[in-house]
Amino acid sequence: MAKMTIEEKVGQTIQGDISTITPADLRNYRLGSILAGGGSDPGNVYNAAPKAWLDLADAFWEESMDTSRGGKAIPVIWGIDAVHGQSNIVGATLFPHNIGLGATRNPDLIREIGRITAVETRTTGMEWTFAPTVAVPQDDRWGRTYEGYSENPGVVAMLAPAMVEGLQGKAGAKDFLDDHHVMTTVKHFLGDGGTTNGKDQGNTEVSEAVMRDVHAAGYVPSIAAGAQSVMASYNSFHGEKMHGHQGLLTGVLKERMNFGGFIVGDWNGHGQVKGCTNTDCAQTYIAGLDMPMAPDSWKGLYESTLAHVKSGAIPMARLDDAVRRILRTKFRMGLFEKPKPSQRALGGKFELLGAPAHRAVARQAVRESLVLLKNQGGLLPLSPNAKILLAGDGADNLTKQTGGWTLTWQGDGTKRADFPNADSIWDGFRQQVSAAGGKSELAKDGKYTTKPDVAVVVFGEDPYAEFQGDLPNLMFKAGKSGDLELIKKLKADGIPVVAVFLSGRPLWMNRELNAADAFVAAWLPGSEGAGVADVLLRGKDGKTQHDFHGKLSYSWPKRADQNDNNFGQRNYDPLFPFGFGLRYADKGELAALSEDPGIDPDAARTNLWFDNGVATTGSTLRLVGADGKAMDIVHPMATTTDGSLAMTAINTTIQEGARQFVFKGDGVVEVRSNTPVDLGRETNGDVFLVATVRVDALPAGAKAAIGTGCGAACKGEVQIGDALAKLPKGEWTRLGVQLKCLRVAGADTGKLDMPFYLRGSNGVQLALSKVVASTDFDYKVECPIR
Ligand code: BGC
Ligand code: BGC
Repeated sequence: MAKMTIEEKVGQTIQGDISTITPADLRNYRLGSILAGGGSDPGNVYNAAPKAWLDLADAFWEESMDTSRGGKAIPVIWGIDAVHGQSNIVGATLFPHNIGLGATRNPDLIREIGRITAVETRTTGMEWTFAPTVAVPQDDRWGRTYEGYSENPGVVAMLAPAMVEGLQGKAGAKDFLDDHHVMTTVKHFLGDGGTTNGKDQGNTEVSEAVMRDVHAAGYVPSIAAGAQSVMASYNSFHGEKMHGHQGLLTGVLKERMNFGGFIVGDWNGHGQVKGCTNTDCAQTYIAGLDMPMAPDSWKGLYESTLAHVKSGAIPMARLDDAVRRILRTKFRMGLFEKPKPSQRALGGKFELLGAPAHRAVARQAVRESLVLLKNQGGLLPLSPNAKILLAGDGADNLTKQTGGWTLTWQGDGTKRADFPNADSIWDGFRQQVSAAGGKSELAKDGKYTTKPDVAVVVFGEDPYAEFQGDLPNLMFKAGKSGDLELIKKLKADGIPVVAVFLSGRPLWMNRELNAADAFVAAWLPGSEGAGVADVLLRGKDGKTQHDFHGKLSYSWPKRADQNDNNFGQRNYDPLFPFGFGLRYADKGELAALSEDPGIDPDAARTNLWFDNGVATTGSTLRLVGADGKAMDIVHPMATTTDGSLAMTAINTTIQEGARQFVFKGDGVVEVRSNTPVDLGRETNGDVFLVATVRVDALPAGAKAAIGTGCGAACKGEVQIGDALAKLPKGEWTRLGVQLKCLRVAGADTGKLDMPFYLRGSNGVQLALSKVVASTDFDYKVECPIR
């Protein structure tokens, strides 16, 4: 350190993302670290080959060690979200997400999962994972509930240090932080699971005692186990963003908890601190953060930080403390003596990705994570000699089974071929039933060719990550999900039904629980779907192969408004309490449950169809080109086949918080609702359809309109060209169109299957972040009403 220049010191403290930083940049800027965010991949290929990752790791390392133009050789470290296995890499073993691991209550298993994750991560060159998440989620509407082990701090405190030990090795042992292990990140400090209404990146308004006893439960034992980094959280504590919270980062974490590693920031999290921007934030350093995560803002942040150190705004002692902490972990990992990533012990040993022994552990984890909630008449375990139907859209669906943080950030847009080392739930049944001489059939829609003796219906949530998974209540898909209907149809045919529910949280399931004979909560099991058949099927000898083992780590709601009904709370009134889980010897009968969700079905509807750049649950985004061809959107970028309309994800105050639409011909952006919405009351009550837009280009004579659709020949449209021309370019405005205008223009607002569409002509460039029915807006579009 004594030999380092101020420039080198500042560089050590900044982390850039591989989507914007190149190895050559690293030679000039000498940054201490790089990351690959959930949506960042070598060459922008989400399913890039393992070799491409390793080559990139080598390239960055080489530059960090190159002293030919001056500067000191300090090995760069690469952090990645290996959060359920090395989950960004094709072929890796994918373990159940933490909610499932919480149900196992098995620290030895979790430690082994950590060890394997470290091994697989090292094959592709990274030495650092952003895991484990030790959030203690209190409101299951939060889109990150599945990343936490439990609503109960005791479970988190039991499992988190085991994961840390598995990933890093045992502190004090010879293999601690060696080439077979990776550095951990305990995240997100502090109170991420305690935000009001379960809002992602929200405000945690609890007492200090709750902060200490509930939300901090995972940190103390993880630090004792030797955790080398902690990630600051996006949330605020009573209005103050954690990235700028000196009392908690320095006073509590570094001083009271005696944390000797370094504090890394979250993705541009520093930019949310009052008075900061993504490229300028002395406050975060002063508060005690050691390495801001500046994915695309690293260059600007480097320059402003350098200036702040030179001016004394950031004390030299504070910078030195940050650099010392970062370098210390690099020394502890022995990185100064190591060759480039591909030449280390496991570099390039890609045969370890999804190795049979690793998959066997993941499969065990699946078996132990399953929670049996109902087993009427002892329907389970099933005989493998029977005729078994596998139905539901989750039966043979790796995308659904693996959830968010899998190859892509949201876990969406993947295909079967992206999972070479994996079994779907159906694969497991097919293999075991055929080995036992039974007959199995897969029919997603339940339309079997041979009438089965029993049906297993696998259904659940589609993948999501972070705020994109936030919900207004615990309803599973507002309106008709199709799944309940499928269960009922099979039952009507006289077929006993086992429901297997894939989800990132407990949801209101009373109707499905009533309809099915047996019900299994399977969470997000990962690559080893075959673990489900291990438990649900008897062996060839007719005996149970594996009993149920899983116990709820989150309380199961009785009503859809029990968002935050947690163990130990006053008025605790769950359907199935924390710790519940039947075994085969238990009586599995369940009396008929009330099918009243406890919320006004209208209140359940939020009238929010598009938010933060994505269609909300229950809605779909669709692009229609000038040639009339439509495409449903799953990726953050898309272009219609005729090239007339292109969409890209852009940033607002949050990453990818909006979409920009570039029209090269007449095109339409449609937000469709899976079930028609009735806005009759809102229309009478002078409510507006409000779109948050930004005009980026509007050539003279260009046309634009907002409309709503209501079935085949029914729609209403209002021109907005004049309004857009008056808006300031490049600024966000909430544009309001009175619903009455749309009714006058021909829409039946009582049955909108397309609550919103945006029509544009050649040259129009418009960004959209939100569409909602509301009375709150900035600019009113003039239009005729009656
Ligand atoms: C990144 C994620 C990150 C998110 C933050 C995405 O573009 O890929 O890793 O968590 O932005 O909002
Ligand atoms: C998430 C973190 C993650 C980081 C890097 C953030 O948006 O909150 O959990 O580690 O992105 O992908």
